Amino acid sequence: MNLPYAEPYKTKMVEYIKPSTIEERRQWIKEADYNLFNLTSDKVFIDLLTDSGTGAMSDKQWAEMMIGDESYAGSQSFLKLKETVKQITGFSYFLPTHQGRAAENVLFSVLVKEGNIIPGNSHFDTTKGHIEFRKATALDCTIDEAFDTTVYHPFKGNVNIEKLEAALKNDTEDRIPFVIVTVTCNSAGGQPVSIENIKQVSEVCKKYDTPLYFDAARFAENAYFIKIREEGYQDKTIKEIVKEMFSYADGMTMSAKKDGLVNMGGFIALNNEEVYKKATVFNIMYEGFITYGGLNGRDMGALAVGLDEATEFDYLETRIEQVAFLGQQLVDAGIPVQQPFGGHAIFLDANKFVPTIPRNEYRAQALAIELYIAGGIRSVEIGTILADRDPFTHKNRYPELELVRLAIPRRTYSLNHMRYIAAVLKNIYASRDQAKRGYKIIDEAPIMRHFTVKLEKLVD
Ligand code: F0G
Repeated sequence: MNLPYAEPYKTKMVEYIKPSTIEERRQWIKEADYNLFNLTSDKVFIDLLTDSGTGAMSDKQWAEMMIGDESYAGSQSFLKLKETVKQITGFSYFLPTHQGRAAENVLFSVLVKEGNIIPGNSHFDTTKGHIEFRKATALDCTIDEAFDTTVYHPFKGNVNIEKLEAALKNDTEDRIPFVIVTVTCNSAGGQPVSIENIKQVSEVCKKYDTPLYFDAARFAENAYFIKIREEGYQDKTIKEIVKEMFSYADGMTMSAKKDGLVNMGGFIALNNEEVYKKATVFNIMYEGFITYGGLNGRDMGALAVGLDEATEFDYLETRIEQVAFLGQQLVDAGIPVQQPFGGHAIFLDANKFVPTIPRNEYRAQALAIELYIAGGIRSVEIGTILADRDPFTHKNRYPELELVRLAIPRRTYSLNHMRYIAAVLKNIYASRDQAKRGYKIIDEAPIMRHFTVKLEKLVD
């Protein structure tokens, strides 16, 4: 008999979380202007807002915190991290940054100019933000299957090669400085990109002499899917697959808050010395000296260990199978979710869950608010509010999908927590027909409005 998987770790410390009542939560979310980012954490029972920086570190990582070298220049912890990054990714040049978007800011300060076009697979919102802030355009070349939550495709994060090639071919004015592929693709539902697709993207990029970068926040989870789903990779280790993935790219930006298994951190790694040299100037200006880049020495030590732990099969199996366990409970109850399940999150399909709420009343946000009120579970809208307005027309741009993301922090919650989440959602699903009205925006920032948006509840 095949044995079920079991976590390859046990608990050494616990953190209490606070239950609350439906009445309390109804009041709290109103006071928070119906924006889940405005809730203080003591008002949340299970926090699925993000898997970013919310995971639990291991005892070995905590041990690194004690031996961190806090030297301004030439820290031993920096050298340890640089060596680990070289071993895991193969890239020679390395710059630490305080988180992923900081890595984007530094690298894009070198590479992105006004009028540029940056093709990729559904860029993450900070990536897109850093591109559009520089008056350039993010061109989404994700395969069409990604936009239908019911279609099964093992690698829904894949790039549509014809679309990418057409963009590169038409680029007679040299407006495309590089291509960026996000592994796994968060905005497409935590969906992986296959090695075959990465290879094809790399070949097209080489043909048009265009560098290829990865947004590698969840690179280890991507490697797990390759091992499980792609022909010819079953017998390779995660570390071998990761090495191969990166061998097709010229560089990467990293939010270490995900597959670095730390609470804060990021970096850039790349092969091109000239780009590296230019990036060091921006790193020093925005982040700090090149041997710390906004991080404590102890954080860099913990990250070195985290990268090693995150690229172990047993850890990845429990991580991704826990997410799938939640997904399967929902599917069994007929609840519409993105399939196949993502690596770091389950995505509820709000267009199918609450089609009764008009799109211009932010139906995915309405569902996320209901989930909070009913169960104290904090999720995040990945729909019209996040997609924001068109930078030129300033009108809402309605994305193809209206999703609610249930992001699962790493090594943090138990299967009982997953069962609780599924039970709350089943109750909401049973009474979904009663949902008729959503919300109206009463205040929004000029860019990345979702963090601070204020909403008002609409009633008949
Ligand atoms: N790229 C991807 C694919 C991401 O998911 C994120 C962050 C970033 C870049 C930016 O990294 O937060 O360290 O500055 N995603 C978080 C999330 C915020 O909730 O998905 P950061």
